[in-house]
Amino acid sequence: MRPIELFNHDVNQSDPTRFERWTDYRNQITSFIDDHTDGHVFSHLLVVGAGNCDDLDLSYLMRKFKKITLMDIDLEAMQKGLKTYHLDEKDIELIQKEFTGFDESGFFESLIDDLFQIDDGDKLIEYLNQKVKRALHVPIFKSHHQPYDFILVSPIYTQLVFHQIQNVSNELSFITH
Ligand SMILES: C[S@@+](CC[C@H](N)C(=O)[O-])C[C@H]1O[C@@H](n2cnc3c(N)ncnc32)[C@H](O)[C@@H]1O
Repeated sequence: MRPIELFNHDVNQSDPTRFERWTDYRNQITSFIDDHTDGHVFSHLLVVGAGNCDDLDLSYLMRKFKKITLMDIDLEAMQKGLKTYHLDEKDIELIQKEFTGFDESGFFESLIDDLFQIDDGDKLIEYLNQKVKRALHVPIFKSHHQPYDFILVSPIYTQLVFHQIQNVSNELSFITH
């Protein structure tokens, strides 16, 4: 597994009680979707950041939408989510996708070694700018560009690469002390 997949895979596996604990939260999301789809026919649902599907009632969604696509970096988590609902990949399409471009552009590859070699602030900024620029040029959704009727974005914004960057910074401070 590549760094971002491995990181999220470990996080997604770290709490086996979450499906149970999130029952109320999952029901609230179901009600939210129900309220916003009432009276309309939506054929294709895309869920961004589906993970273990702990916050998704897939049985309900299967009744509500004709086709469902789940997207996440962690394919195993989505497969596990399907199993929870006794579904498989014939029922729901799974797409393994990294959303930031940091993976495909190799942002974390040799990052710590490189940062350790840089001893000048301007060079550091230039180095990081180049890395981010490369990531920004990765076309994230181009290969899956198709019309979806309803797109549900799971709370991924607090996760996207932030914790990995924190890990790098912890590792650097560990090395330098
Ligand atoms: C807090 S979870 C959302 C809850 C999830 N729907 C569940 O029920 O397990 C965030 C999800 O975002 C995914 N994720 C985090 N960073 C990602 C990235 N850079 N690219 C793609 N998926 C990412 C993780 O794998 C995780 O499944």
